Amino acid sequence: MIEDIYKAEANRYESAMEYRRSGRSGILIPELSLGFWHNFGEISPLERSKDIMRFAFDHGITSFDLANNYGPGYGTAEETFGFVFEKSFKPYRDEMFVASKAGYDMWPGPYGNWGSRKYLMASIDQSLKRTKLEYFDVFYSHRFDPETPLEETLQALVDIVRAGKALYIGISRWPKDAAQFAFDYLKKRDAPCLLFQDRLNLVDRRVEKDGLLDCVRENGSGFIGFSPLAQGVLTNRYLNGIPSDSRAMQGKFLKTSQISEDVVSKIRQLNDIALNRGQTLAQMSLSWVLAHPGVTSVIVGCSSTAQLADSLKAVKNKFFHPEELETIERIASEITL
Ligand SMILES: NC(=O)c1ccc[n+]([C@@H]2O[C@H](COP(=O)([O-])OP(=O)(O)OC[C@H]3O[C@@H](n4cnc5c(N)ncnc54)[C@H](OP(=O)(O)O)[C@@H]3O)[C@@H](O)[C@H]2O)c1
Repeated sequence: MIEDIYKAEANRYESAMEYRRSGRSGILIPELSLGFWHNFGEISPLERSKDIMRFAFDHGITSFDLANNYGPGYGTAEETFGFVFEKSFKPYRDEMFVASKAGYDMWPGPYGNWGSRKYLMASIDQSLKRTKLEYFDVFYSHRFDPETPLEETLQALVDIVRAGKALYIGISRWPKDAAQFAFDYLKKRDAPCLLFQDRLNLVDRRVEKDGLLDCVRENGSGFIGFSPLAQGVLTNRYLNGIPSDSRAMQGKFLKTSQISEDVVSKIRQLNDIALNRGQTLAQMSLSWVLAHPGVTSVIVGCSSTAQLADSLKAVKNKFFHPEELETIERIASEITL
């Protein structure tokens, strides 16, 4: 067999992709980041994962979002990343911005979950091994742990940076008060929080409503949004039934019962507006998130290069007429997932 050598597209930085500064930092992150929560684990075809990663990089996506337990098969998304990294991306390491996280259940027993120093320290070492990286660009506390002193979790993150295992610190899904504590704690230790990660999409606007988005911006941190497509609901994926290869059919994080007739009828209305804008619904949903002040990047998931190719075009049109925006947001507010 002839070895499959990868050479990145020469014009990879000449698309419409913009690179936004993460808060008050030196780091620029592409408007779209690639998420590894689904579709990169041991049950997904390796060839497809490799194609998606290469396609992403060839089109200006330099930011890759991992976590210790992404799979399915905990750890296997990081293993996939590591395998493809070794074969394709090693010469490009300095052009890549790679994130991982720890905070959810990862291994059995009392030390494989939440926010203790022991868990975070062991987890990043495991993640580095799986991904074949020498360091992460950003390492996150994946969730707020109400039982562990915040100082313990945060100091572990600071020490991870001091040890050279990550360049920057991030926190994900921390409530506002705890996030403010983290911003202050990290700033005082000269290891400011680079990124705050949480869900933001047309049907989940909690971070706007509870002031988190403003709080993040005021503290000089960047905001990176996840599930911008509501796991595929805010796309044309479910307009004509539930495809057998869709996330809803897996029935774990998105259930077929959530794709009700009422939801589909609202999605259809949004789809019509998107088509009038010359966009697919996925593109419009992404554009809507990117149009928010304070948003640095959106992490998009995909199960094919065709989906990613479609999503990438979102960056070309992020303008909404006020009346159009009002209609979109009114319809979206009637969707309950
Ligand atoms: N920090 C956290 O706690 C947290 C939580 C969740 C996610 N995340 C991060 O955010 C990333 C994205 O989250 P997500 O996977 O829920 O994202 P999403 O972008 O809302 O949904 C992705 C799914 O939408 C469908 N899709 C994608 N592009 C499409 C297109 N152009 N047209 C039609 N359908 C399309 C695919 O569904 P099918 O698979 O059905 O084809 C895809 O798997 C994750 O991978 C992860 O990195 C972080």
